[in-house]
Amino acid sequence: MKRTTAFLSLCLVMTTAAHADDVERGRYLVSVGGCNDCHTAQFAETGGQVPETQRLVGVPVGFSGPWGVSYPANLRLTAARHDEDAWMARVRAGGLPPMPWTALQAMTDADLRSVYRYLRHLGPAGDETPAALPPGAPIPTPHFVFVPQAPTTVSMAAPR
Ligand code: HEC
Repeated sequence: MKRTTAFLSLCLVMTTAAHADDVERGRYLVSVGGCNDCHTAQFAETGGQVPETQRLVGVPVGFSGPWGVSYPANLRLTAARHDEDAWMARVRAGGLPPMPWTALQAMTDADLRSVYRYLRHLGPAGDETPAALPPGAPIPTPHFVFVPQAPTTVSMAAPR
């Protein structure tokens, strides 16, 4: 009996340690993957000066281009709503630009699962971002326009 308890405690410790490793790996992958640049407000602008508790909650500013309008989603809410396999299937299916889908899809299953576990570790926070819009639809939010512009001949330097 005592032995069984000791064995079960050991299993629990090992599982917890493995989970902590996954979370750490996920944190690393998100950091080197540049995910916060789009999915965290003010991250790029401040050189990353956003507390981890406020990261990856999405930004309600759209990216408008030939694909319509996409919004950098609240990754923490989506992860909280999906179990791990459903989340993996969603990521493997891909979606709209400028999300770097190919970068995520190049990750091994083990790496992607680590990203999911990191998002679950952060837990749900923030609000849902707006749903994507089809090309030509009115855009009721602020948005960046991803349309190449013709070269200019006038200087764009700010007036002094
Ligand atoms: C250039 C901006 C940009 C970067 C960088 C970026 N994303 Fe995204 N991401 C988006 C946009 C826009 C969408 C919405 C795409 C759509 O509607 O199909 C999205 C959607 C997603 C989704 C699916 C939606 C959801 O709610 O879960 C996941 C998962 C995701 N991104 C994870 C990541 C991860 C992980 C990284 C870093 C490796 C990353 N993204 C980097 C812009 C970006």
